[in-house]
Amino acid sequence: MRSIRWRLTFAYALALLTSMVAFGASLYFARHETSLRSFDQRLQQRLQLEAELSARYLGESYRVLGRIVARDSTPALEPTIAAFFESFRDYLVIADSGGRVLFASDSASSLPIASFERLRAPLRSSPRALANGSYTFDPASGPARYLVLPIDSAGPEVAAVLVAAPSTTTVLEAEALLQSMLVIAPLILLASVLVGYWVAGRNLEPLGTMVRELEAITDGTSLHRRLAVERTHDEVARLGSAVNLMFERLERSFAALHRFTAEASHELKTPLMVLRAGVERALRNPGTPPESLQALDESLLHINRMAEMVDSLLTLARADEGRLPLAVEECDIRELVGEAAETASMLAEAAEIVVTVTIPDAPVPLAVDRNRIRQLLLNLVTNAVKYTPQGGAVSLGLSDQGGMVTVTVGDTGIGIAAGDLQHIFDRFWRADPARSRIGESPGTGLGLAITKWIAEAHGGSISVQSRPGRGTLFTVGLPRRTAAESTVS
Ligand SMILES: Nc1ncnc2c1ncn2[C@@H]1O[C@H](COP(=O)(O)OP(=O)(O)O)[C@@H](O)[C@H]1O
Ligand SMILES: [Mg+2]
Repeated sequence: MRSIRWRLTFAYALALLTSMVAFGASLYFARHETSLRSFDQRLQQRLQLEAELSARYLGESYRVLGRIVARDSTPALEPTIAAFFESFRDYLVIADSGGRVLFASDSASSLPIASFERLRAPLRSSPRALANGSYTFDPASGPARYLVLPIDSAGPEVAAVLVAAPSTTTVLEAEALLQSMLVIAPLILLASVLVGYWVAGRNLEPLGTMVRELEAITDGTSLHRRLAVERTHDEVARLGSAVNLMFERLERSFAALHRFTAEASHELKTPLMVLRAGVERALRNPGTPPESLQALDESLLHINRMAEMVDSLLTLARADEGRLPLAVEECDIRELVGEAAETASMLAEAAEIVVTVTIPDAPVPLAVDRNRIRQLLLNLVTNAVKYTPQGGAVSLGLSDQGGMVTVTVGDTGIGIAAGDLQHIFDRFWRADPARSRIGESPGTGLGLAITKWIAEAHGGSISVQSRPGRGTLFTVGLPRRTAAESTVS
């Protein structure tokens, strides 16, 4: 259960189930107890009434008729009187003082002998005493309640009447309640789980939206984005506001960082220029002692490298700030690639590196910032020449696929280790500087970072393939965009 939604629903269902079971059980037991007690009370009252009615009837009959027991072979109640008791549904037995049965109702006489004997047992032990209690006389009908009522007014032959009835009913009130609860509970549970799942989903939805919006923020350039925060002031809204505040702080510190870099590089430019002019003047001065010339030469090299680095830094810092608009104009890319090939030939001449260029015959028009694309190509070809040993080859290619113009710069140089490929576009990242050809000035490690920015600012991309010792191929894809799209970046 990886989603909070399911966890909430599950916990909710579990809590509901537990409370439903607890509620049902306590209700059942409370009802069971009271329904048993009230049933028993009603039963006792009924037996009492039946016994009293019988006693009074027998008494009245005796008073009127004077004789209510027929004496044939065995003593029995006169049939005319017995007829009155036929209609009794409960067990009814009338006995004489010896405990002998004078009358048994239909229900009683249809019992098996053993059960009947157990039924009338209370009459035999003490026929002239009032007694009541519970017993089980018939295994089939379960526990029963009985009442023995002595009768004095019906002559010497009649001693007592016993009435009995089962003390359990098949379906008690509580049992019925339990049954209906068992039917309804799963339905309630299912309905509440559905509702719970829906409610949890609805409440967590803003979180999902937030996650999607946050995932869309991939780098420093999208820090200006803000989450849409609902005005509900709940936890999710507060989280959204907190994240937005964090973005604001991040954006501010990023901006400060970019501004600092831009200002620092800008401030460094002038002193570097003064320094360079001074060193150059000293180099040209015939009065400069020859032993100082080498030191001055070396200084000039470092000053130039530093100027280059400061320039690149300024470019990147301004790009980060979004203060470097492209001067986009329609031009034939073939010209730019041709220029780059010429530069490459010049750079490669001393190292005896062959430069080849493959260009389509038809013009390749594309709206780009000329100078930036020139810079991109220059960065790639200087790298290609720099990292290719003597006698190697550098090739430039251009192809037009309609929606996309692709420029490739390949070499047969030292290549880049697979593990380094992911870093080469990082700022200041350089592979072991000792790898470049002897006599090359060490780079700054910013060239490819700028190259990548230029490609992306044009809506394009740059990729690299390389095999150590075999060579490297950079591929730049530049899409043809509508005028509206081009002005965005
Ligand atoms: N064509 C290439 N062949 C081999 N390695 C290269 C090539 N181009 C770039 N690299 C590696 O990528 C690193 C970064 O390149 P770059 O950003 O231009 O910095 P720099 O050229 O100033 O060192 C280089 O230091 C080099 O190790
Ligand atoms: Mg470089």
